[in-house]
Amino acid sequence: MTTSLRVAALGDLHCTRTSEGVYQPLFAKIGESADVLVLCGDLTDYGTSEEARVLAKDLSALKLPKVAVLGNHDFESNAADEVSRILTDAAGVVVLDGTAVEILGVGFAGAKGFPGGFGPRALQAWGEAPVKAFVAAAIEEALKLESALARLRTRGRVAILHYAPVGATVDGEPIEIYPFLGSSRLEEPINRYRPDVVFHGHAHRGQLEGTTSAGVPVYNVALCPPPGPAHDPRGSRRSARARPPSRGAGGHEALLPARARRAEHRRIPVPGGRRARARALSRHRPLGEGSRPVHARA
Ligand SMILES: [Fe+2]
Ligand SMILES: [Fe+2]
Repeated sequence: MTTSLRVAALGDLHCTRTSEGVYQPLFAKIGESADVLVLCGDLTDYGTSEEARVLAKDLSALKLPKVAVLGNHDFESNAADEVSRILTDAAGVVVLDGTAVEILGVGFAGAKGFPGGFGPRALQAWGEAPVKAFVAAAIEEALKLESALARLRTRGRVAILHYAPVGATVDGEPIEIYPFLGSSRLEEPINRYRPDVVFHGHAHRGQLEGTTSAGVPVYNVALCPPPGPAHDPRGSRRSARARPPSRGAGGHEALLPARARRAEHRRIPVPGGRRARARALSRHRPLGEGSRPVHARA
């Protein structure tokens, strides 16, 4: 007997220290309609522990399993470990970084990913040492994703990224920044392991749906438009200050319909009947010794 797991996915919350309560209506809707929440990075705006605590407070009211990867903004203040720890300890979020977790009979493999561009014109490791280091970082993230996918033994499998693995879902962004939005190197392990679905964020103005060259469905769930100050996916503070912030209740109400549109829901088949699903409901476990989420507290 096969049932299904309802997965709600969204990315790029860009939570600030003044965001308390902003996401509660959206989280409440997700709580009514999903079994698992997937968060695709840029959970905070400047990667501070203060922002993480604001988000954790809102998330803690959502009584669902929550699984996430971090995004580039979560690294801005060199406190990514602390951001992860707060989200895990205060809101029960399982933060994946080249790791995997089983939730309600479905496997989730996650990594942040990295930029570098798509197709034959992607940046190559050639020339200056900093260019080689940049490409090496992209390759390392692809290897992290591969190793996480390799651990999944479940029938239903989900891949979570911040950066896009395909160009199709970044269409609509300024063409000049395509190479900053993702990397084809992330597509290779996806095609090899063929998860049921891939979720990513980061491309706020991109397309919702795409597929890899092997036909794996890819969903860009970055909130659109981005909340708060104008957002530059390259992480430029200068650009972020170029437009006035849209904080306060009015701005939040105005943005909610667009945000809800980006909260993509997918059903993932789960083996076993209702009883098996109920047994699994209160537990989700990391897959294998090496796959324990690095920031999770036992
Ligand atoms: Fe973002
Ligand atoms: Fe981002």
